[in-house]
Order: sequence, then structure tokens, then C-alpha cells
Amino acid sequence: MTSKAGKISILCLSRNVLHSGRFALFTRVPDNRVHTFGERSYSSRPAESPHPARQKVTINIIRKLYSDNEPITVLTAHDYPSASFVDKAGIDICLVGDSLAMVALGHESTSPEMLHHCRAVARGAKSPFMVADMPFGSYEVSINEAVKNAIRFIKDGKMEAVKLEGGTEMAETIRAITRIGIPVLGHVGLTPQRQSSLGGYRVQGKTLEKAKKLIEDAKAIQEAGCFGMVLETIPEPVATHITKLLKIPTIGIGAGPGTSGQVLVQLDMLGIFDRFAPRFAKTYANVNSVITDAIRTYHKEVKERKFPAKEHCYPMEDGELERFLNIVGSSDNE
Ligand code: KIV
Repeated sequence: MTSKAGKISILCLSRNVLHSGRFALFTRVPDNRVHTFGERSYSSRPAESPHPARQKVTINIIRKLYSDNEPITVLTAHDYPSASFVDKAGIDICLVGDSLAMVALGHESTSPEMLHHCRAVARGAKSPFMVADMPFGSYEVSINEAVKNAIRFIKDGKMEAVKLEGGTEMAETIRAITRIGIPVLGHVGLTPQRQSSLGGYRVQGKTLEKAKKLIEDAKAIQEAGCFGMVLETIPEPVATHITKLLKIPTIGIGAGPGTSGQVLVQLDMLGIFDRFAPRFAKTYANVNSVITDAIRTYHKEVKERKFPAKEHCYPMEDGELERFLNIVGSSDNE
């Protein structure tokens, strides 16, 4: 947007729709086609599906991958676009991890704003097996409350399974949730929701006694009915041993290559979240600098009046420009 007083560049993030002064709606497309539906104009037809479908990953497929000894891929998503990346890339499990509170919402720790994100993720990813993190406070107070909240994630959040943190002490809760047919992914080792009592985001199971406790926890939640479990930030030999001991898949994050699968936080592995990077978070791209450079260029082009160019503008109907200029031309020059 430019004004006579000065040039101001405005970038609207997370939307693909522009409102004009006449309340017409336009979406951006490469070929500038515009389709009109009643009062609204769309630059492309509403998509029937976000991307070509691939085979739906069910819990049985996860079990098959495990029995075939094929590594299981898990990646987090927190909104529609990040979910569609997970889907398009062929990832087996899409996790709406509550790490989104830190990496996507800017909080200092994980927090409870989850259902809203689950619904957006469910719209963006149709093929992966969909798992949601139950946030801190939603499953600890009573088993009834945990079951009720797990149901909300399935019914309102459009998820297929839930994840919750904890070992032996959560076994009864896991048993109650799985008993009503909701698959549970367990999570032991570094459990970020309890980072205060763990003294921060620290490696777990580094001593024999602590490793033995982790093994006990992993066995307890397997026995309670988990279909798999996350092993977070534990020494590789301990994670490998637990994996060999169990009859369900382990999904490692900072747990080495001996687990049945791996999970990463999408905004970490894309190099978008720049506050800190844990040692285990391999960055596969530096999207942060790509985005910052693109936005910087946009800012500069607006300041230099290089954007928008002719190809970004809409023409008037044939013959109307002349009539329009006849009317407004003189007053523009006054
Ligand atoms: O919240 C999260 O993203 C997670 C993964 C790191 C496993 O729990």
C-alpha cells in the first residue's frame, strides 16, 4: 500500500485472500485467472483436495511398518500449510505436538492451545496417521477428565490418536483411554511438559538407576496399551535396548538410530525456529533465511515503487478506461 505521506509496506501473513474496498475477494494464482461466484471473485477454483491423495496410513499400517522393520517417519505440524507439507512428503505419522506453543506461538514452554490447531492440521493432511499431543493439565487430574479430553481430540480435533507424557504413573490413564478405542502414543524420557521438575530440557536416563526407571516406565505403558511411544533425549544405548525389549514401535527424538522410527519438530528441521536448536534437531533447510530474504526484497521493492508491476494489476473492461479517464482525468490534475 502506498500513501502520499510516505510509503508503507504491509504484508499479511497466513492468508491467501485479499479484501477489496467493494468486498470482492480475490485469491492469488500464477496465471491471474479470476472466477466469480456471486459477490465473490476467486482467482482459482476452490480446490477439491489440497494435493493428490496417497494411501491413508492407518494404525494397522504403522503396525505393519514396525513388523517389517521399516523405519517409521513422524513429523510435527501446527497449521494447514505445515500439515500439507507432511502429507505431500509422504510422512507416516503427523503429530500435532504441543511444542507448537514454543515454535509457532512464541511461548517459553509447551502450553494448552491445541484443538484449534488440530482442526487446521486435519484439513491440511489427509493421508498420515494423525496424532495429537494432550496438553499439560488435560489428563493428569483424573482418569475421567483424561478420557473426556481424549474424546474431544478425536471428535472436535479430528485426530485419530492422542499422545501423552509419562511412565508408570500414567498407566491407568492410558489403559482407560485405550479401553474406549482411542490409540495412545506414549512419551518417556525428556517429557517437556514436566521440564520444571526435570530441572530443564535435560538428557534423561544417563545413569544406570535412571536408565532402569526408563525401562520400567516403557514396559508399563506398553502393558497399558500404547500402540507406540516417543523416546525423547535419552542416551542411544538405552533407547536401543528399550526398542529391542518392547513389542511396539519406539519413535526417537534425540535417542539415536536404534529406535523404530524418528520424529522431528518441523519448524526446527526446516531451520525456521531460530531461538535455539537442540543438538538432535538436524536442520534440512534454512527456510528462515529464505523467508527473511524474500520479505526483505518485497519491502525494498515497495519502497522503490517496483512492486506492484503491470502484471500484478487488474485492467478495466474494454473501452471503459477511456470513459473513466474522461471523467476523472481533469480532477486528478487539479
Ligand atoms: O511436542 C512435540 O512436538 C513432541 C515431539 C517433540 C515428540 O512431543
